[in-house]
Amino acid sequence: MTATNGRRSGRRAIYPGSFDPLTCGHVDVIERAARLFDRVLVAVVVNPQKREPLFSLDERKAMIAESISHVKNVEVADFRGLLAHFVKAQQIDVIVKGLRVVSDFESEMSTALMNRSLSHVETVFLPSDPRYSFLSSSLVKEVFFLGGDVDAFVPATVLRTLHEKRALTRQT
Ligand code: PNS
Repeated sequence: MTATNGRRSGRRAIYPGSFDPLTCGHVDVIERAARLFDRVLVAVVVNPQKREPLFSLDERKAMIAESISHVKNVEVADFRGLLAHFVKAQQIDVIVKGLRVVSDFESEMSTALMNRSLSHVETVFLPSDPRYSFLSSSLVKEVFFLGGDVDAFVPATVLRTLHEKRALTRQT
């Protein structure tokens, strides 16, 4: 967002993650962040540290873009390397993270302090909606590929892409 004097105006937030895939818990955090800040950049990490992603970067970004198309002040981007460097390059004002359970707090606390130390940008935590506090992308994938029903936990486009992925793996 740019003011008439050419300087940026409005608070810009970033919501970073692997989004492998996006869940309804992520969508809830994005919608709430979009009400708190002028612009929200959903930033997909290119190479998640945990493990090789199931979905390609393009698939993860496309699923997010389709699922949040109703929220007008949200954009989707990707980044590689340190989040702190990306945040500085993009002139982001605040990092948004969702907190589900106490164990999230332990790891997110040190990450937030490290990011602040590296970029001078604060992290704001949004408590997860209780409907989604047990939800994670890994759990969704595990349940789905073992034949469980995940319809209530992911947006329609993610469900469709999960089915396509499963059909492909069955063919190979
Ligand atoms: O959805 P996730 O996997 O919990 O997201 C984690 C993510 C992508 C936000 C985090 O791993 C990250 O910021 N990675 C970029 C590398 C980085 O900056 N590492 C140092 C963190 S202090």
